[in-house]
Amino acid sequence: MNTKSTIRGIEWNPGLAALPFSPIRTMFNEAAKMSDVVHLSIGQPDLPPPPYVIEAFHQALRDGRTRYELDAGMPALRQAIADFYSRRHSVSLDADNVLITTGCCQAMFMALSAAVQPGREVIVIEPAFVLFHIVEMAGGVLRRIVTTADNGYQVDPQEVIDAMNDRTCALLLNSPGNPTGTIYPRETIETICRAAAERGIAVISDEVYDRLILDEPFASALECAPHLDNLIVASSVSKTYSLAGLRLGWAISSKANIVDLQRFHMFISTCENTPTQSAVLAAFQGEQTFVEQMVVEYRRRRDRVVELVAATPHLTGYKPSGAFFVMPSLPVGVDGFDVAMRMLKEVGVCTVPGGTFGNACGNALRLSYSTSMENIEAAFERMIPWLGQQSF
Ligand SMILES: Cc1ncc(COP(=O)(O)O)c(C=O)c1O
Repeated sequence: MNTKSTIRGIEWNPGLAALPFSPIRTMFNEAAKMSDVVHLSIGQPDLPPPPYVIEAFHQALRDGRTRYELDAGMPALRQAIADFYSRRHSVSLDADNVLITTGCCQAMFMALSAAVQPGREVIVIEPAFVLFHIVEMAGGVLRRIVTTADNGYQVDPQEVIDAMNDRTCALLLNSPGNPTGTIYPRETIETICRAAAERGIAVISDEVYDRLILDEPFASALECAPHLDNLIVASSVSKTYSLAGLRLGWAISSKANIVDLQRFHMFISTCENTPTQSAVLAAFQGEQTFVEQMVVEYRRRRDRVVELVAATPHLTGYKPSGAFFVMPSLPVGVDGFDVAMRMLKEVGVCTVPGGTFGNACGNALRLSYSTSMENIEAAFERMIPWLGQQSF
């Protein structure tokens, strides 16, 4: 090796440094070194997907569906998604309102990076799923609104409105939410969407858990916004049909917005996986008992987890209405990362520290009940005595 020459590495876009390493990885890496760990950390359904969807995937491959699909997505799939949302939310959508993406993540990534300009602000309601960091990568500024476990992480819409100003370009919604499982009432979403529309602020609504509704009512931003011109709703099949690995999602917006995002999409992934699109079409066309049964099962687990959290020393819980998470808080000032790591090492229960989801929730722990009832019971049998011994 020539040690005399100066070797210069890549000069990355400085925005890259805004993306943190997720504490979820740190927890998982530590857990992987151990032999006896009960996970309350999993962020995807633990149930096997509907067999007819898997068969449709195989059939698509046998039929030779391995070529590029149209860049905005398979027309029949775009139509099926438009029809489904139109029926479910009493809105009028057609195929041109839908763009097929690589999961909800890509739809969110595109919406955020297309909307954010350096120095412009994006409102995020914390705790929030990690995708909001894309704002900082794109040079935007986060306006963080804090919600807490003691009122079930509900947000006061007036606080969101008060955070809007001339520099605000977008706001993020996520109901039901990860990490909280919180569903916002219709009035909250309506008030926020109306105020955003009046000010020309984009509402980017992550509705990836929109079918995991444990307690009705659930209102999609599609029903609450005055029009689609400043709304983008993102979702996917990852949670609804337990198909996270197929990486298929969509963005829904006005036709003009979809054309703009379609141009961007061409430069990211050209088009989405062709056999997957056939499988997802089958998922939408088939009977939906899988989803109904999944909701019944998660509701049963949620009810038990709420009881167990209430019986656990130092935790302040609440009853989440959707998804498969609850995020109880520890006393103010307690470091959730330290607690999660010690609990993992000392009694083998893996949770996710609240600080993963924003600056203001560092004293919380995200618990996922996307695991068997046996695992849930086993985890709390370890957690309850261990937390009881802590003097915070
Ligand atoms: C709130 C939220 N949005 C988006 C995603 C990613 O979804 P997808 O697998 O469809 O990209 C997740 C995954 O955990 C999530 O919790």
